[in-house]
Amino acid sequence: MINILVIHGPNLNLLGTRQPELYGRHTLNDINQQLTTLAEQKGAALRFIQSNHEGALIDAIHQAREWAQGILINPGAYTHTSIAIRDAIAGVGLSAVEVHLSNIHARESFRHHSTIAPVCVGQIVGFGWRSYLLGLQALLDHLRPVEEDAK
Ligand code: DQA
Repeated sequence: MINILVIHGPNLNLLGTRQPELYGRHTLNDINQQLTTLAEQKGAALRFIQSNHEGALIDAIHQAREWAQGILINPGAYTHTSIAIRDAIAGVGLSAVEVHLSNIHARESFRHHSTIAPVCVGQIVGFGWRSYLLGLQALLDHLRPVEEDAK
């Protein structure tokens, strides 16, 4: 069983009603349920955190060292500002995949840069709620390459 921490950063608790033209109409709960279904199919277990506070996200990353093998993270606006979250991911040494609902590279220039992406395995953007599913799939494939390659 692979254990994954799923992190939702600031303002993502508002999904469903927050700028639906950008972020869609799925709620955070909808997304977490979709992720749980995929994880069950893939033999993985998920724990979720959503916080609007940088320190709470960092604490969760540190704690993940005790039980998780990977991190799926949408850092929200901290993507563009947080050296502390970047350092936390690098510090625990867990494989992480960064996801975004919107295509941050097609938006305002201040969203083009991610401080987090360089310490992640990869980044998936622009597919709405499906970015999370694609990100989880990619993370699990990354963590189980031998098993996948043998198929
Ligand atoms: C976001 C993109 C960020 O730029 C923004 O601050 C968010 C949501 C996304 O999923 O598209 O809060 O992370």
